[in-house]
Amino acid sequence: MWEISHNQNLKGQVAIVTGATRGIGAACARALARSGCHIVIIDILSAEEIAKAIESEFPDIRALAMQVDIRKKEEVQKAVSETVQRLGRIDILVNNAGTVSRLGLEEMNVEDWQRDIDTNLLGTFLFMQAVIYPHMKSQGYGKIINISSISGIIGGVMSALPGSNGGRSGPAYSASKGGVIALTKWIAKEVGEHGIYCNSIAPGSVVTALTKGVNYPLDGQPIKRMGDPEDIAEAVVFLASPASNYVTGQVLKVCGGLAIG
Ligand SMILES: NC(=O)c1ccc[n+]([C@@H]2O[C@H](COP(=O)([O-])OP(=O)(O)OC[C@H]3O[C@@H](n4cnc5c(N)ncnc54)[C@H](O)[C@@H]3O)[C@@H](O)[C@H]2O)c1
Repeated sequence: MWEISHNQNLKGQVAIVTGATRGIGAACARALARSGCHIVIIDILSAEEIAKAIESEFPDIRALAMQVDIRKKEEVQKAVSETVQRLGRIDILVNNAGTVSRLGLEEMNVEDWQRDIDTNLLGTFLFMQAVIYPHMKSQGYGKIINISSISGIIGGVMSALPGSNGGRSGPAYSASKGGVIALTKWIAKEVGEHGIYCNSIAPGSVVTALTKGVNYPLDGQPIKRMGDPEDIAEAVVFLASPASNYVTGQVLKVCGGLAIG
């Protein structure tokens, strides 16, 4: 006999969410706050407004805004130190900040290639390194969720965007998200013995600024709608909570069934 815990209560925990001024990141920050977490909102843009909104919606929750370019190692380390100084610990990291170039292979230039690879992959690596060593390792616990993409599994999701690469997200985006998936698995094997979990969520098409103006054919998808940011946030809360304590190194596709298998 066993008991199901229904344990998605994160009261008193501290979560860092990158790219959280809008879109999927903002939904994750709100969902984690609703589950009881204090939140650090990291973005290259000013995050004061969303931090204030979260504190007024959830009066017991502290929400700190930090303007950080996640591609810069010193800025990432400073944000992590400041989190520990002001909130005392780090239990959850959601690596969500991302950029997408939709240029095709022929038009792709080194600047756009580098921006996607550095934001999506280097930034994810820098944040994991900074929170694990020494913080999560020394407390013997941590939940890391890296937002990848179905594009990183199937080589770009077809869509219609006039003047773009047949509508797919570009090669740098696919390569960076495939890299995030491989990195997630590598880290899971490295840190499991320290009580640290590392999983990835691969969203399909979700209504945010990133997909504005892009037209996805939804006919071949079992759930015939684009995702809402909250669809991704619900899965993040599961992977951030003790409800997923036998899950690590996995990629959870939250995509309306766009990619099955
Ligand atoms: N929207 C989708 O359909 C979709 C699908 C699959 C995966 N994703 C992934 O989900 C994540 C969130 O995407 P979204 O759709 O909410 O996009 P979004 O553009 O609305 O949000 C991305 C956020 O990341 C921030 N950011 C960008 N570069 C940064 C940097 N260098 N340092 C700090 N912050 C930075 C932006 O300012 C923005 O707030 C991304 O990793 C994206 O690749 C989105």
